[in-house]
Amino acid sequence: MKKADIDKILKKYDYKKSSLISILQDLQVINRWLPQETLKYVSEKMDISLMDVYSLVTFYKSFSLKPRGKHIITACSGTACHVRGGPKVLSELENQLGITVGETTPDKNFTLETVRCLGACALGPLVVVDGKYYGQMNPKKVASTLKKYSKKK
Ligand code: FES
Repeated sequence: MKKADIDKILKKYDYKKSSLISILQDLQVINRWLPQETLKYVSEKMDISLMDVYSLVTFYKSFSLKPRGKHIITACSGTACHVRGGPKVLSELENQLGITVGETTPDKNFTLETVRCLGACALGPLVVVDGKYYGQMNPKKVASTLKKYSKKK
């Protein structure tokens, strides 16, 4: 992350220690994840120990210390989706993307995640891409769904 971008956000919050969560949230919006160098820079500039910054980042599940892709694919692994074929959909996603759950494709276009239940069990097996729901998924639909989010050549 560019230091100038980080400085801009720090300035926006006037370097206030009480705004650390908001600062980190803003940084993650820009970069999609929080690299170690970024956290180190924030800790130095705000005069907060790196350990304190890390304990906050690891406490909140919404922060990511690993690279995240441009598109977030969330496959439901809840019971209702599972019995309707969720695992087959997930393994097809892993095959086509060439990654496993929790990973990001080398071109940083996709991150694959799972969730216990998305609260729309009747639509299962369910896959969500960037907040858009794709219900009644099956392995055959995976390729066409991914294609909508693939980088244009
Ligand atoms: S189990 Fe998948 S949405 Fe509830």
